[in-house]
Amino acid sequence: MKFHKILIYWYLQNNRDLPWRKTKNPYFIWLSEIMLQQTRVAQGLSYYLKFTTDFPTVFNLAKADESTVLKMWQGLGYYSRARNLHFSAKQIANELNGEFPTTYKEIIKLKGIGDYTASAIASICFNEPTAVVDGNVYRVLSRYYGINTPINSSAGIKEFKTLAQSLIDETQPGTYNQAIMDFGALHCKPQNPLCETCPFSDSCVALEKKLTKELPVKEKK
Ligand code: ADE
Repeated sequence: MKFHKILIYWYLQNNRDLPWRKTKNPYFIWLSEIMLQQTRVAQGLSYYLKFTTDFPTVFNLAKADESTVLKMWQGLGYYSRARNLHFSAKQIANELNGEFPTTYKEIIKLKGIGDYTASAIASICFNEPTAVVDGNVYRVLSRYYGINTPINSSAGIKEFKTLAQSLIDETQPGTYNQAIMDFGALHCKPQNPLCETCPFSDSCVALEKKLTKELPVKEKK
């Protein structure tokens, strides 16, 4: 069976019931993806609920004072995320009529949005087959394919992005992207991965060669 088929089958049985999985509103997905960078799902959850309640539309967020937004962000850290979020909300409200851009190419132009966030929003909200590559994706792919190119080298960044892009399920890219992130977070974990019950155990290179603990490789800078 193809990689994406096994993955999505696993996801259908194991996916987490999270509030941002019930919407395709790009504003909500954007909030969730910015909050979840460098932050665990369990920690980001209450912030997501508070922001979407207090600022139900991008206009509400745009109108808020920056100090209010930063105060609500307290505890999440990396405050530049909140500043960029507020800046881009004002831009969407004032220059784009409140309409969130609908393609990867346009989404990535927003301040604070890089390849990961643009890929997540484009795939989840607009079905564009753009593969996300986060820490979970690096771990799953480096182990499954036995790739030891350092994930923080420019060669590694390119190699994993190309591989991730070649694996995406073009008929359901948003589901595929969330499936690989959940699989990395819940099953192919950094420590003590659940190899005994892994749906990829027949074909995982790291498992066969006992390299699970060695992968992914990170280069010391
Ligand atoms: N981490 C960040 N965004 C995520 C998502 N949409 N699904 C699972 N894990 C994530």
